[in-house]
Amino acid sequence: MTQAPTSPLALGVDARAAKLGESVLRRRRVALLRAGVWALGLWPTLRLGWLAWRDGLGANPIEALLHRTGDWTLVFLLVTLAVTPLRRLTGWNVLIQIRRPLGLFAFYYASLHFLGMYLVLDQTLDWEFIWEDIAERPFITVGFAAWLILVPLALTSTRSAVRRLGRRWALLHRGVYVATALGLVHFYWKVKADTFWPLVAIGVFAVLMAARWWARRVARPVARGT
Ligand code: HEM
Repeated sequence: MTQAPTSPLALGVDARAAKLGESVLRRRRVALLRAGVWALGLWPTLRLGWLAWRDGLGANPIEALLHRTGDWTLVFLLVTLAVTPLRRLTGWNVLIQIRRPLGLFAFYYASLHFLGMYLVLDQTLDWEFIWEDIAERPFITVGFAAWLILVPLALTSTRSAVRRLGRRWALLHRGVYVATALGLVHFYWKVKADTFWPLVAIGVFAVLMAARWWARRVARPVARGT
């Protein structure tokens, strides 16, 4: 039996249906990824809240909260920095959609760490002591500098700010590398003796920076030349 030739009109309809299916699938993937990021982002807060409620934070709950929120700030900063290299490596462009919420969770934990745990719970808003602490203890000074750098990045994370600032937006947002580096110095100086975890975090940061450097200097010129 011979098959009837498909008309160009039918082909056009098929192509449009396939495109529509692809875009629905893409939107579903983005929604799923975003939901995953929100779950990941809220999990530490819920867990810490639960532990605080159940007296499960050990002998010094304020110190535990200060430490855990500091840890999560670094985790979210590093995960945010991992998005672009991972996207390049996998070709999974949809990942770019979760960079902004991840970055905002990093800022949220940095603010919880600094404003909530340090200023309010630890120092009970004793401003005189706080300024002295920031000025005189180098590990606090660099932590504070890191947080200050993150503030304008969070404020300019909206789509309208990206449009308004144009090329300056990308320049400004390179501040995230400096903030992460300062956060790592802050962590390293804080621990004094057991440097295992700060060195692991510094190693992850070094790999991520090397991946960016490689993509910019080596991979792209080669791709352009071929
Ligand atoms: C991007 C900004 C920041 C990051 C990434 C960060 C990260 C960290 C990390 C990873 C720790 C150690 C947690 C542990 O031992 O498990 C820590 C501790 C601490 N951070 Fe931060 N921090 C930041 C900003 C700040 C700021 C602005 C302040 C206060 C001005 C601050 C004050 C402290 C204090 C007091 C400790 C505990 C020190 C101790 O118990 O000896 N941090 N931070």
